Amino acid sequence: MNLFDVYPLNDIEIVKASGSTVWDAKGQEYLDLYGGHAVISIGHTHPHYVKRLTDQLNKVGFYSNSVKIPLQVELAEKLGEVSGKADFQLFLCNSGAEANENALKLASFYNGRKKVIAFKGSFHGRTSLAVSATDNPKIIAPVNSTDNVVFLPFNDEDALKQAFAAYGDEISSVIIEGIQGVGGIKEASVSFLQLIRTLCDQYNAVYIADSVQCGYGRTGLFYSHDYAEVNADVYTMAKGMGNGFPVAAISIAPKFTPWHSMLGTTFGGNHLACAAAMAVLEIMEQDQLMGNAAKIGDYLITELEKIEEIREVRGRGLMIGIELPEELSQVKKNLLFKHFIFTGEAKPNVIRLLPALNLTKEHADHFLENFKIAIKG
Ligand SMILES: Cc1ncc(COP(=O)(O)O)c(C=O)c1O
Repeated sequence: MNLFDVYPLNDIEIVKASGSTVWDAKGQEYLDLYGGHAVISIGHTHPHYVKRLTDQLNKVGFYSNSVKIPLQVELAEKLGEVSGKADFQLFLCNSGAEANENALKLASFYNGRKKVIAFKGSFHGRTSLAVSATDNPKIIAPVNSTDNVVFLPFNDEDALKQAFAAYGDEISSVIIEGIQGVGGIKEASVSFLQLIRTLCDQYNAVYIADSVQCGYGRTGLFYSHDYAEVNADVYTMAKGMGNGFPVAAISIAPKFTPWHSMLGTTFGGNHLACAAAMAVLEIMEQDQLMGNAAKIGDYLITELEKIEEIREVRGRGLMIGIELPEELSQVKKNLLFKHFIFTGEAKPNVIRLLPALNLTKEHADHFLENFKIAIKG
């Protein structure tokens, strides 16, 4: 049997990893500023994480949501505390797409409506409604296409006001990334997020904050949307939550009332997933990783802004986009194959930095040094 060939692959096999360093099968060492796509939050193979998972595996790895799982309650308490939303409710699932799918569904159950407002440049996942709310027609299958999703220009307050004025009573939810990741590291403005809050309140629509990539402490606040100082109704999260173990969740405002079987999943919230998520939050708190993400992120952004070849530096904390001119389109490849530094990318010609939140200043300096050489060719 062959693999279903959907991923363009780099010819590299990672066999060992520690912190922000990975090694390939030939023994070559790399600096990991990609974190396997914003997933590695507390660093690869963190000893506390490995121990917590190993200990859990030796007790019980999985049982279904048909029995009490006290670890879920523990996780909900910890997440409520670290995210600053102790009065919210937690539903656990397995991936970012599934989190968004459930958030959109919950909104529709809540207000009985069908229309979803999404934005140009958005990415919300590949399952049915999540992909319909994603601004990429190439990945929307005919069966997923729907008139229920309306795309508006990102950060366009007039367009949003007009949409609500025209059909506000039909709008179930507004879904937005605090910082668009796949869309090229573009931050939602504070006033735009505040307007979403105001209009959702006015029309009884649900504000969904997709925090799958920009959340979980990456920008210095637990949810990047919270820079706008207004609460969303539902926050979705995944990537950094399990440091590589597949675990995702939605954090749900108190006004939503659950009923049995309203949402559900076989694997969501299993013992191992909860142990992984607990280990991440414990290390985030103990090592003050949100503060570190803000500090090292500020440093990187300040230093990058001094490099004149860069067209624009965008982002916040350790979610950074470096837009380069067309003639420097080889830099990302050269960083990987000549300087042995993993980074992410986005179109057009944006290098994405999504490292672990405990990245050190030495790592940042190593990157800056090599980046300056790479852009000189
Ligand atoms: C903002 C955002 N939402 C949702 C998703 C989908 O997450 P997953 O791949 O875990 O389904 C992603 C993945 O890149 C994302 O960046």
